[in-house]
Amino acid sequence: MKMVSFKLVGSLLTCAIAFSTAIVRAQAGGYNQPYRPQVHFSPLEHWTNDPNGLVYFRGEYHLFYQFNPFGDEWGHMSWGHAVSRDLLHWQQLPVALPEQNGEMVFTGSVVVDRKNSSGFCAPGTECLVAVYTGHRTAGEVRQTQNIAYSRDDGRTWTRYSGNPVLDLHRRDFRDPSVSWDEKAGHWLMAVSLPSQHKIRFYSSPNLKEWTQLGDFGPAGNVKGAWECPDLLHIPGENGKRGIWALKVGINPGAPQGGSGEQYFLGDFDGKQFTQAKTPGSYGWTNYGKDDYCAISFNGLAKEANPILLGWMNNWQYASKLPTSPWRGQMSLPRRLSLWRDHAGLALVQKPVIAPLRAGHWDVSTTKGSNLVGEQQAPFELDLQFGRPSEPVFGIRLYSDGEHWTEIGFDRSKKEFYIDRTRSGIAITPDFPSRTTARLITSRPYDLRVVVDRSSIEAYAQGGTIAMTDLIFPASQSSRIVVFSASGKAIPVRGDLWALHSVWGNRIKRTTK
Ligand code: FRU
Repeated sequence: MKMVSFKLVGSLLTCAIAFSTAIVRAQAGGYNQPYRPQVHFSPLEHWTNDPNGLVYFRGEYHLFYQFNPFGDEWGHMSWGHAVSRDLLHWQQLPVALPEQNGEMVFTGSVVVDRKNSSGFCAPGTECLVAVYTGHRTAGEVRQTQNIAYSRDDGRTWTRYSGNPVLDLHRRDFRDPSVSWDEKAGHWLMAVSLPSQHKIRFYSSPNLKEWTQLGDFGPAGNVKGAWECPDLLHIPGENGKRGIWALKVGINPGAPQGGSGEQYFLGDFDGKQFTQAKTPGSYGWTNYGKDDYCAISFNGLAKEANPILLGWMNNWQYASKLPTSPWRGQMSLPRRLSLWRDHAGLALVQKPVIAPLRAGHWDVSTTKGSNLVGEQQAPFELDLQFGRPSEPVFGIRLYSDGEHWTEIGFDRSKKEFYIDRTRSGIAITPDFPSRTTARLITSRPYDLRVVVDRSSIEAYAQGGTIAMTDLIFPASQSSRIVVFSASGKAIPVRGDLWALHSVWGNRIKRTTK
């Protein structure tokens, strides 16, 4: 009898353990596929493109995003929603703004209405207001600007009965970026007229009535549609004067092929943006192929450095990514600052990643070795090359004997580059690429790389060059090797960090 009950308790216990292990496995499996990003946000399932409505409110960062709740291809565009307390660990919430009555919810922003200027908040409180493009396909295609509000920290939304709030009777008029203009004491909108290559500015006292201000453009690259504008104020370093940055997405026609993001640095007088004449006042927020429609967070402290986050993808092959059951992921959040030197200006991007650092290795190659180590993604590598006399040098990330990605400095061509032509699966003919940025030889030859299971974010020359490229490698492990054109060992000072998975998955740590 005793024996039976012991057995029974034993098997019940085994069942309970098996059941809870299954739950744990199911939860972990949800974010543990071979190409599933471990330090970047991706939805549990289905399609995503642009980030939308980035805002910090009551201790939470909100990430809304273009989302198809019904499948892994673009369509039924709605706003998905996730929240985080540290910009890295995201919790996905139910869809915030679904497609409704044949109108899709395209890209836009969310603001904190601190003084209840809209009248949408409960009396005496602040609330969130979303400004988005409604894309109507019934009858003639029409894009208009619309608003909705939330009184419960973004969990539920009510559309304004007076929508649309801006209608130019156009088929392309989209992606409103709204912020509070402290100096003028009103709301400011930058919105795109894609085929005219113009960003138009509007002001409003209450988010409902809008008055046209100035236009910017055509300027810079006009080979494709202009989309996803963002106007940002970048504070100056050490109390120096700051500068305005106007960021404009372009698709197709970007220099690396397909979608890209150009920026202009200059002045905004409250109505109009004017590009500065200083060298470096025109550049690209991403010199790789895969960071598009980045926007910045609203609701940060006054004069805080803006934080930009983009969609790590390119319209050339976005629908072909070999991932399931999700398709699409976001870049790391990046803090922006300004670089000023004799060569001119540049936008600096620094990824928010340090809180995820786990094991650390000093990988300085003082003993003449070319092997930095071996590490399973995700990991971060920071290298300073000093001033090597070699014309071409950098690192190779090997995922096996036949597959590697090269990240390097080519001094003879004055280029920084990522070559992913041998990185793994080449999903379409547009995918294999060697993406480049112009090197400024007087700036430091440093390199910070964040490698996740299907992406590389590289920051070179003090973060003045940001290059993001997707990769679909043969394995998750990477042998990291410093190389030079002549094959000679070159001195490198460096740090390698294993990174924690934000989904709690175990990362194997291996190093030399
Ligand atoms: C850019 C974009 C936006 C638009 C959204 C639709 O990727 O084309 O201009 O609002 O995607 O999903």
